[in-house]
Formats: sequence, structure tokens, C-alpha cells
Amino acid sequence: MVTVEPHRAAVLLLHAFPVDARVWAPVAERLAARGYRVVVPDLPGFGSTPVPPSEASVEVMAQQVLGELDRLDIDRVAVAGLSMGGYVLMALLRIAPHRISAIALVDTKMTADAETARETRLEVAARAEREGTADFLVEAMIGNLVGPATRSRQPAVVAEVTQMIRQATPAGVAWAQRAMAGRPDSQGVLSAFDGVGVVVVGADDVISPVDEQAQMAAILADGELIVIPEAGHLSPIENPVAVAAALSDWLGRSGPSVTE
Ligand code: MLT
Repeated sequence: MVTVEPHRAAVLLLHAFPVDARVWAPVAERLAARGYRVVVPDLPGFGSTPVPPSEASVEVMAQQVLGELDRLDIDRVAVAGLSMGGYVLMALLRIAPHRISAIALVDTKMTADAETARETRLEVAARAEREGTADFLVEAMIGNLVGPATRSRQPAVVAEVTQMIRQATPAGVAWAQRAMAGRPDSQGVLSAFDGVGVVVVGADDVISPVDEQAQMAAILADGELIVIPEAGHLSPIENPVAVAAALSDWLGRSGPSVTE
């Protein structure tokens, strides 16, 4: 868990699968420098947060995040969710909408999985427990997580993402896959949200492509779509300057504003 806190308006950044809070670090630093109190937890099963003993669900992840906000004495927060972090954001909207002041959906999806995708997740979960994850998960995912510009021009980012995937534990990977497999469709909860929203997507995201993200922006009451150049699915670590600028605009539109 990384907390950067100049004690001002709070923003919660939720990470993707199968990485951890470090994927948000370059954006967190920039938002903190602009005066926001930035909270970046490791979701259950990743980084420093252990796998929960309970049945896998995105609601359990959301409950743990709420516990973290309680510990930090944060009542209401603007939330940005990257991919799996977006699914947790949507679970927060289902269980504690009064705690959320604004939403940023970053390279994520509002729909539940189709049956084949669900089956694949359950197979990956079983394989992770059987074989471990370090090799097959890096091979299966790295090409889709980062875009071509990152692959050719940012070897340090590719190396960092690879390291995060390697450090994900088989138990954490399996638990998260089962949690994501069971998540419901969230279109209703997103269209009911009446705060400020933004959808941010890497131009070269092949997991959550731009046309799907445009549909998500269209169902938000007050939402806009921002396409991040030279980024794939992990846009916050691939082009942090552009993602931090997009989130600063969104936070500025949302209030409460950053004050001295
Ligand atoms: C992620 O980046 O969190 C994953 O692509 C989410 C998913 O598997 O649906």
C-alpha cells in the first residue's frame, strides 16, 4: 500500500490484474504534486495484501478497500479504477455509492463475462494453483497489457510490468480470476451514478478497445472519453503524463477542489 498525502481532496487509485499498486505510481506522484491525497492500495491477493479467507468476489475486494478508507478516516473519495480496479470501483458503487464522489473508468469493462471468458478464467485459476504463474502468465499477458509504442520504446516499463506479473502469487491470481469470473453486469449502476465521470483508454488497448470505452462513456450521466496516445491496456504506467493530466481535469471538474 502506497499513500501519498498532502491531506487534501482524496483520490483512490485501484490497480489492474495481475499487477499491483506500483502500476499507478507515476500517476500517483503527479496527482500528489498537484495537491491531492492519493491512496493506492494493493488489492487482495496482490503486493502486500494477502488473499482473503472468504469466497472470491469483487465485493470482498470493495469491502477491503472501504476498510482501508475507514482506517485513513476518508469518508468520500474520487475513485479511478484500472481494468480489474474498475470492476472493484463498480462493486463500490453497488455497496457504498454514498462514499464515492466521482469515477474514472480506466481501460476497463462494464459488462459481465461471456460464458467462454468465464470458463477461461476458471481454467487459468486452476492452472495457476497447479503450475504456479511466473512463466505462463507473463507469456500469456505481457503482449496484450502494454501497447506497441511501450514495447518498442520503453523497455524499463516492460521490465517493471513483467516483474509485477512474476511477483503475483498463484493463490492471488487464482482468487482474483474467480472473483472477476463472478462479477455482474454494471451498466445499471454506472448509468445511475450522477457524479462526474470520465473514461480513459489507451489508444492501443486490445483488451478494452476504444469503441467499447466510448459506449461506456455514453451511458454515464456526466462522462467524457479521453484517449491516451502511445499506450495500451496499462495506460497509467505507459503514458503517466497524459493519464495524470486527464485525471487532474476530471478531479478539477468534480470538486472538492484542491485548497491550501
Ligand atoms: C486487468 O487488466 O485487470 C485484466 O485485463 C482484467 C480482466 O482480466 O478482465
